[in-house]
This record gives sequence, structure tokens and C-alpha cells, in this order.
Amino acid sequence: MRDYPIGVFDSGVGGLTVVREIMRQIPNENIVYFGDTARVPYGSKSKETIITFSKQITQFLRSKNVKAIVVACNTASALAVEVLQQENDIPIIGVVKPGAKTAALTTKNHKIGVIATEATVNSNIYDQYLRKMNDKIQVYSKACPLFVPLVEENWLYDSVTVEIAERYLSELMGYGIDTLVLGCTHYPLLWHTLQKVVGEQVQLVNPAFETASTLKQVLESKGLNRLNRKNEHKFYVSDGSEKFKAFANRILPCDVMETSDVNIEQY
Ligand code: DGL
Repeated sequence: MRDYPIGVFDSGVGGLTVVREIMRQIPNENIVYFGDTARVPYGSKSKETIITFSKQITQFLRSKNVKAIVVACNTASALAVEVLQQENDIPIIGVVKPGAKTAALTTKNHKIGVIATEATVNSNIYDQYLRKMNDKIQVYSKACPLFVPLVEENWLYDSVTVEIAERYLSELMGYGIDTLVLGCTHYPLLWHTLQKVVGEQVQLVNPAFETASTLKQVLESKGLNRLNRKNEHKFYVSDGSEKFKAFANRILPCDVMETSDVNIEQY
């Protein structure tokens, strides 16, 4: 099984920020990525719908013989990871727990901000993990739904993006947070803009770093880490493969030559 690929999925393009980190930290691994571009956004959908979608995608990825699955989407990690773990006999790793762990180790004043989709914020999952790790921690969450379309438009540094970020973040800044978790796959692409808005005294946390290192540890502990360096990654989406390909080529360290469309509803 060592040579089998890792399955990674997201509601769309955002999960590529997690793929980028996996490629950086464990370059030997092959990736099969699925982006649910036809049904994005997940962040405003119900728990039931997100679980149904996540199960279909897991079925699809398993049909590609993946040895582990990374749920790169924060919303699906918040709402569906436990169900997927119960129903599958391969490692399933979400991004929320690793992100919370990094934030708990980063904060000095125990005041942590979390920005994410509506569904992730309403699930309270970051609060639960963070308080379990340290009961002194106070969590201040804010849904920032406009960030997703801004990233999809590639308006990463625009004045309009800065203005929206200032509006979303002023409330959190008022609580005196020293750490801010970017709890949505798209937000790490706004890193520079967000850092400018919150100032250097606030540490930004990208859950993708710790997720990739958790994956590395899990693979090594199970003897599943790939030894061969020759890569063959595969990319699938449920709609708009050309647009996806252009996005992927902007942010990944490798060339994405081909992206295939999948009818995910049949899984
Ligand atoms: N991938 C989602 C997340 O990380 C953001 C986009 C969406 O709402 O589907 O929460």
C-alpha cells in the first residue's frame, strides 16, 4: 500500500492550499485531489448535506485506491470527519484538530480568534478542541463568507478585500486576540492582506502546516510512507475543470496538465 496515493478533498479550489503543504512536507506522496466545484460553497449548507457530499467523495476517492484521506475543507472537517472515520478502515485526517493544536501552542494571552465559514463557526468545533487543550483559552469566532468569492476571483491584495477584512476583523481585534486561526481553506491565500490588517502582533495560523505534518506522522507510524520520488498527481472536479486547472497552476509547485470532470452524484 505504500505506493498508493493520498486522497484529498475540498468543496472547491481552496483545498489546494493543503495540497501545496503536503507536497512541500512529504514530496514523495502522490495525490488524488477532488474539488466539488459544482456544489461549492459548503459553508452555508446543512450538516446533513455536508455529510452526504463527504461520503460520496470518500467513495469516489476509495475507488482510486487511496491509502489515506485528508479532508482539506474546514467545513467538512468540522461536520463530517467523525462519520467518515467511523465508516472507513483507512486513516481520515481533518484540518480542524491540527489547526487548533497549533493555535493552542501559539497563543500567549490565551485569546484566540477563529475566522471560518458560517457552518464551521456554528459547529463550535474550534472552541471545543481549543478549550479541551487548555481551559484558560477564550475563543472569538467570526464567519467571513465574502472571503471565499474574493479568493476565487483572485482579488487577494485588492483595496476592496482590505476593506472587507478590516470590517470583519475589527470586532475580533477589539477582544485583544494574539492568534488568529485561518479556519477556511481559502483564507491562507489572503495571508498577506490579513496580516496587514491585524498587524504583526497577531500570529496567523494556517491549519494546513500541522495537517501535513500529522499526515506524515500517521503514514510513517503505519509504514505507509512512499519511498519513491517519481510523482503522478491526479486532479478531479465536479465542474469547470479548465478554471480549476488555471487556479491550481497559480498556487501549486508542480504543473497541473490535466483535470477531469466527475459526476460525483453517482457515488
Ligand atoms: N472549503 C471551505 C472551508 O474550508 C470554504 C468554501 C466553502 O464554503 O465551501 O470551510
